[in-house]
Amino acid sequence: MASDVIIALDFPGESETMSFLDLFSDKKPYVKIGMELFYAMGPQAVREIKRRGHKVFLDLKLHDIPNTVKSAMSVLSRLDIDMTNLHAAGGSKMMQAAVEGLTRPDGTHPILIAVTQLTSTSQEMLEKDLLIDKPMADVVSHYAKTAADCGLSGVVCSPLEVDAVKSVCGSDFLTVTPGIRFSGDSAADQVRITTPEKAREIGSDYIVVGRPITRAQNPVEAYDRACREFLNI
Ligand code: C5P
Repeated sequence: MASDVIIALDFPGESETMSFLDLFSDKKPYVKIGMELFYAMGPQAVREIKRRGHKVFLDLKLHDIPNTVKSAMSVLSRLDIDMTNLHAAGGSKMMQAAVEGLTRPDGTHPILIAVTQLTSTSQEMLEKDLLIDKPMADVVSHYAKTAADCGLSGVVCSPLEVDAVKSVCGSDFLTVTPGIRFSGDSAADQVRITTPEKAREIGSDYIVVGRPITRAQNPVEAYDRACREFLNI
């Protein structure tokens, strides 16, 4: 099964993003375009980064009524993205509509995954803010099972929930895990975190790493370290 380190390109615009990618000269890391960059550059961000030879995870976390999500996914299906996502909290009708919208006329579609609970959400927030009175791992695996039943290929979750997700959805169901920090680094706003090495041991399929690479003194070295620790190469 594919396994990779995905760099979160959380930059405010084109010049910062392209200067960052230029650092990687011969390497073509798998990258994530999130709301910040997409809202700044629009679909051109995807076109330009694909043109440079990167795989793209478009992280827009759609969450709306089924018809709106279906239409939006249909527009995204025309971009040459490799992976995209939505919030499982939108429910099964929304997820089924998303799969329909994302499917191209030839029957193919980019990998579609669901956000379960953000890695910045703690058990306390789950209970106090969302009124969900269940353990995090149960909530995440329930959302994952619903996503799997709707035809999605995986979920975004914390590495700490990979076990729970795989045991409910099977080992082929993808787990894409942000909340990654090198040992000794600060967590910043993330809560449910682990190291690249631990994420590998736990069985994450992809790790998403933002600030530990983008804000490192030497981003290429930090990326290489994440690859070494996660891919064991
Ligand atoms: O900088 P850091 O490594 O914390 O970045 C993590 C990235 O993963 C951010 O782009 C964030 O939006 C994204 N993400 C997340 N938790 C989720 C889904 C996406 O942190 N559940």
